Amino acid sequence: MSLVANEPAIAQRLHLARQLARGAGALQRARYETDLTIATKSRSIDLVTEVDRACEALIVDGIGSVFAGDAILAEEGGRGAGPGAEFRWVVDPLDGTTNFAHGFPRFCVSIGIERRGERVAGIVFDPLLDECFEAARGRGAWLGNRRLAVSRETELARGLFATGFAYDVHDSADDNLAAFARVVNSARGIRRDGSAALDLCYVAAGRVDGYWERKLNPWDVAAGFLMVEEAGGRLTGSEGGAIDASGRDVVATNGLVHEALLAAIRTGGGAT
Ligand code: IPD
Ligand code: CA
Ligand code: CA
Repeated sequence: MSLVANEPAIAQRLHLARQLARGAGALQRARYETDLTIATKSRSIDLVTEVDRACEALIVDGIGSVFAGDAILAEEGGRGAGPGAEFRWVVDPLDGTTNFAHGFPRFCVSIGIERRGERVAGIVFDPLLDECFEAARGRGAWLGNRRLAVSRETELARGLFATGFAYDVHDSADDNLAAFARVVNSARGIRRDGSAALDLCYVAAGRVDGYWERKLNPWDVAAGFLMVEEAGGRLTGSEGGAIDASGRDVVATNGLVHEALLAAIRTGGGAT
């Protein structure tokens, strides 16, 4: 068995998303550890490469040529609104740009699909491991033929967790460092792998027991949120309230360690 979406309109889009993610992933693989043109965006540590832009063009053009009426939100600014559109694609053409720019092998393509504001499908493709994570609402999260389920760990002290730091980490007091220190001191281990979309897929796959991060953007989380939901995980903000699709405040776990992780990242006040 593997993933089949239940409605043709979603199945067709998922099929296209799969093809486009693999196409962009092939581009990333071909350009990995080659000479790259690298520019900066909001900060000196916020990078964009020619490959981010080429992948975005491939994906946005591919969507537009088949589903011209759909809206697209893509990180590097490709194609806009489509007011009143039933479907919206939320695209991170290369999640893990710092890794990619340094030749660190952890990056992916992330494509989420929403229907009237509801997450309905998602693809996250890691081109180096050739791992294509897929999810459709009500149909599970999948890695190839394997249906994904979150881990069954109940103890923070035995858990492996992931997190990340926003590009304003050098100059913002809300820098996640205190929470990071508290979790390092309470859990079995912590990873900062540099791709939010893969971090969320790893929660879904049970490779980590939980993940948290602040100041993400919709394209970082659109596909990954659905993976976690469909794998039986729990998503909230750091105060325990409903998750916000903007990605500004994300706690994603197997459910069983959720309260303990919330308490650890909150202790001392706020999520910083
Ligand atoms: C970044 C990665 C990273 C996270 C950052 C994101 P980008 O996305 O997901 O893991 O910590 O907050 O902005 O810039 O590589 O697409
Ligand atoms: Ca990203
Ligand atoms: Ca990106």
